[in-house]
Amino acid sequence: METRLVTVDREHLRETMPAEAAELLREGELVAFPTETVYGLGGDALRPDAARRIYAAKGRPSDNPLIVHIADTDALPVLARDIPEGAWELAERFWPGPLTMILHKQPSVPDATTGGLPTVAIRMPSDPVAAMLIRESGVYIAAPSANASGRPSPTCAEHVYEDLQGRIPMIIDGGSVPIGLESTIVDLTGEIPLILRPGFITIEEIRSVLPTTEYDPAVIRRVKDDTIVARAPGMRYRHYAPKGELTIFEGDLAKVVARVQAEAEAKAAQGYRVAVLASEETKDRYHGLTVRSVGDREEEATVATHLFATLREFDRMGAEYIFGESFPEAGVGQAVMNRLMKAAGYRIVEV
Ligand code: TXA
Ligand code: MG
Repeated sequence: METRLVTVDREHLRETMPAEAAELLREGELVAFPTETVYGLGGDALRPDAARRIYAAKGRPSDNPLIVHIADTDALPVLARDIPEGAWELAERFWPGPLTMILHKQPSVPDATTGGLPTVAIRMPSDPVAAMLIRESGVYIAAPSANASGRPSPTCAEHVYEDLQGRIPMIIDGGSVPIGLESTIVDLTGEIPLILRPGFITIEEIRSVLPTTEYDPAVIRRVKDDTIVARAPGMRYRHYAPKGELTIFEGDLAKVVARVQAEAEAKAAQGYRVAVLASEETKDRYHGLTVRSVGDREEEATVATHLFATLREFDRMGAEYIFGESFPEAGVGQAVMNRLMKAAGYRIVEV
């Protein structure tokens, strides 16, 4: 299959949106498109064949459920039932935007979309390209991140092309995304709202609407390791992962820089291709190493924006070992560190 890459002009969306995109979706085919968080791989959420195509294109296990994207809150009761008041309050405050809600599903939502779960994940993206695609197609769009399973989520159309060329008919190129990390997921089907995945919308913001909100314990789990010896393979959870072995160092920043320099030098001396994941504040403190700044420590949103692209860049340079700094976990830092720890398979060293 040939993959068409179609660039849209955000100043002239109506004129430059490819009409074929909506047609493809209506036919049960797939279209990758930008959202404010990451690029999504979209298909008709109410068609099991479309969901199966999504899993096949990504190489993703079909028990991992998809997020359904909508353009209007009217769609909420069409897809979900027993919607608690809190869901409407969150929708009012954060939609359209980077928030996904887990609710009890309506029977019309197929098991193929929800991975067999009785619940459904729903999000209303704020990116005008995504909103227009949903409206023009008349389809609720099931869309996971448009990466091959296990790779970092795509933050520009080139990343999607890299992973899915030849596997899907169309990619809409709307430029680089503004946020760079996937949406915050809140489960509203239990006694208290639970954050299943931290994102750009922080727990403090969710609590300003629903004060009893907590993190799911799995989110803040940290399997700490004070050595860099690989742990039992079965214990490793790798996701968002670069191909090289990533280790994160945390503690006093000056000590972290010194330790990263030493570990990286030692591996380089053994003949390995080595890279350092640093920040604007520290990138010039390393010597004789390949260093990439992922963003500004003072503005962690910049780290969020560039994290996945930086992990992909390490793959392109063929880095076998990557040594990285950690970042403060306040605000959006919680989401940044959640992705970074997963990318490192929880290989975290306390300095
Ligand atoms: O920002 C985003 O959310 C992006 C853009 C494209 O919207 N989408 C995205 O989708 O990140 P994906 O498939 O990569 O991640 C969806 C996550 C998965 O971890 C999945 O397990 C979880 O949402 N999820 C989906 N439905 C669920 C459900 N019913 N219950 C619990 N978790 C669910
Ligand atoms: Mg994903």
